[in-house]
Amino acid sequence: MKFTTPATTNPIDQLKVVGRPTDRIDGPLKTTGTAPYAYEQNKAAPHAAYGHVVGAAIAKGRIASIDTSAARRAPGVLAVVTAESVGKLGKGKMNTAKLLGGPDIEHYHQAIALVVAETFEQARSAAQLLDVKYVEQKGVFDLAKAKSTATKPKDGKPDSKTGNFAGAFANAPVRLDATYTTPDQSHAMMEPHASIAAWEGDKVTVWTANQMVDWGRGDLARTLGIAKDKVRIVSPYIGGGFGGKLFVRAEALLAALGARAAQRPVKVALARPLMINNTTHRPATIQRLRIGATRDGKITAIGHESWSGDLKGGQPETAVMQTRLLYAGPNRMTVMRLAVLDLPEGNAMRAPGEAPGLMALEIAMDEMADKLKMDPIVFRILNDTKVDPEKPGRPFSQRRLIDCLRTGAVEFGWKERPTQPGMRRDGRWLVGMGVAAAFRNNLVMQSAARVRLDGNGVITVETDMTDIGTGSYTIIAQTAAEMLGVTLNKVVVRLGDSDFPVSAGSGGQWGGNSSTAGVYAACVRLRQTIAAKLGFDEKEARFSDGQVSQGDRSVPLAAAAFHGDIVAEDHMEYGDLDKKFQQSTFGAHFVEVGVDGDTGEVRVRRMLAVCAAGRILNPKAARSQVIGAMTMGVGAALMEELVVDQRRGFFVNHDLASYEVPVHADIPHQDVIFLDETDPMSSPMKAKGVGELGICGVAAAVANAVYNATGVRVRDYPVTLDKLL
Ligand code: MOS
Repeated sequence: MKFTTPATTNPIDQLKVVGRPTDRIDGPLKTTGTAPYAYEQNKAAPHAAYGHVVGAAIAKGRIASIDTSAARRAPGVLAVVTAESVGKLGKGKMNTAKLLGGPDIEHYHQAIALVVAETFEQARSAAQLLDVKYVEQKGVFDLAKAKSTATKPKDGKPDSKTGNFAGAFANAPVRLDATYTTPDQSHAMMEPHASIAAWEGDKVTVWTANQMVDWGRGDLARTLGIAKDKVRIVSPYIGGGFGGKLFVRAEALLAALGARAAQRPVKVALARPLMINNTTHRPATIQRLRIGATRDGKITAIGHESWSGDLKGGQPETAVMQTRLLYAGPNRMTVMRLAVLDLPEGNAMRAPGEAPGLMALEIAMDEMADKLKMDPIVFRILNDTKVDPEKPGRPFSQRRLIDCLRTGAVEFGWKERPTQPGMRRDGRWLVGMGVAAAFRNNLVMQSAARVRLDGNGVITVETDMTDIGTGSYTIIAQTAAEMLGVTLNKVVVRLGDSDFPVSAGSGGQWGGNSSTAGVYAACVRLRQTIAAKLGFDEKEARFSDGQVSQGDRSVPLAAAAFHGDIVAEDHMEYGDLDKKFQQSTFGAHFVEVGVDGDTGEVRVRRMLAVCAAGRILNPKAARSQVIGAMTMGVGAALMEELVVDQRRGFFVNHDLASYEVPVHADIPHQDVIFLDETDPMSSPMKAKGVGELGICGVAAAVANAVYNATGVRVRDYPVTLDKLL
């Protein structure tokens, strides 16, 4: 099915099941420990041996020699895999560095070997016996120093220019020119990267934790140098990803290579201390914001430049993208520059681009409001735009930023905000309030599904879509139940298997809307087949309460499958509606903080997010997504920073003890309001993404609240207490 014109009324609009706050159908499995995560797939792959990954001890250079003989003789060892032992490997499209390094080393903790043994302890112990000699080269690890060497990114990320920025900025009566920095950050998900691999002849099955099953399948095949249909990926439950599991990583490749070498199934989990430097991270940025405005607060010039680094051949952090779309202003420019760094690979982390970009832009907006002596909400509303400011002929499909700001102001009690910093005290705490706009683009991706009706009236949905803790199982079940007119307990959802039709996968907050749209397409087809089978007109037949009816005639749905299951498969693909209409999601974040007047300790007291993100398919799951994202945003504001060892080129705090993240208990009150919105340009579901919108802007709202409390403007994240004293 192709989505080319705005959605009209369809069965989803009944909202008997969709749009209702629904418990996760996989919740009991997860809370009772019975949902098998990748490392626990012991029934599917019994008698697996254990693989232990060895990471490079240098950031740049090469392996002069690697002596595996002592390790091979160690008790229980079945195989030792190195680049030398496996011969030539291909490279995945999505990986910048090789997943198995050697002889060249591209970054610290790049995998250089896998030791396979009968037990985990034997594998880990034998790994200590590898004798690796390196020739170390000098690397570049400091973004601030490498900034002057940064160049234009190659892959279609040109500068943008509208009007005459330089002239308008120079002539603006009120001006801000400020530089903000965001550090390298880690996904720090609960479940580490983990895989079990088993070969049957020339075909390998990998039970793994991967957000994008089909991408993973393709890249693993490419790397192993075998046909894609010789690889099966199974990823039904994932303990968090946040972008860190978008791509196949070393443990999956090494499990496959280890299983081939040991001739039995092999399971590999990345040890926590290896995760941070072996896998990807959100790259640090240096961002310069220049905003010029008239004295009455109209933006006349807005410029955003961002510098980030990555390994050679890598990509920039796209931190300027929201600045192209969020506020009006006739004279604009954005620039991204990329420096080559020898740190581990940078890549997507929850709302790549917008999350760090808004950390800078939304402090800059607060600073401008301050200069203008305007309320920061009033200043933002004054500079709202209904069209793409770089392409004025192109409207937003929906844009309710003003409603988000106004609703939040009322609900949060914004009028209580001290108008001057440092005005309100509560005992030893200085108290302040901050706001930021939230913005995240809405991407749509082709997605397929298969649906089956059996003689008991049960609908089974199969798609390679993943559930990374977001609620995919539940919204997919809701979609099928709505389309076929059955209750949720009549729907079975099977996800995360490359044997199923290829879905959108979980990334870029496109998963919810896109994967359910694919299920919608398959269900339309199933309805047609059922209607024909039961002698109904496919357009007139109604599906509700387990019955198919037309006029006075009504037949149980199950009757259509009395003589055998009925199966339908289809996908949703997209035309160019998203080119004619800019599709984005909007929100506003409100934060109240207390700052200890003596120590500078910051405590978030309460938070509110107001989101306008299309139809909310499951308000309970969506609320959880947004609250989780808000918590992650507080981490970005106050805690998270990968500390770079500038001599050796690695992230020092490579575990969850030293890479600090907040938990919900750190924030006493969090609330979310979803504005009632449907977006017919987005898909037949009329939904959009919301899981990444929730983090966008949060950190700036916290930093702005800290300024309101203390009068100290911190432009260098995280806002730790040493920067406030
Ligand atoms: Mo997301 S950072 O595309 O998982």
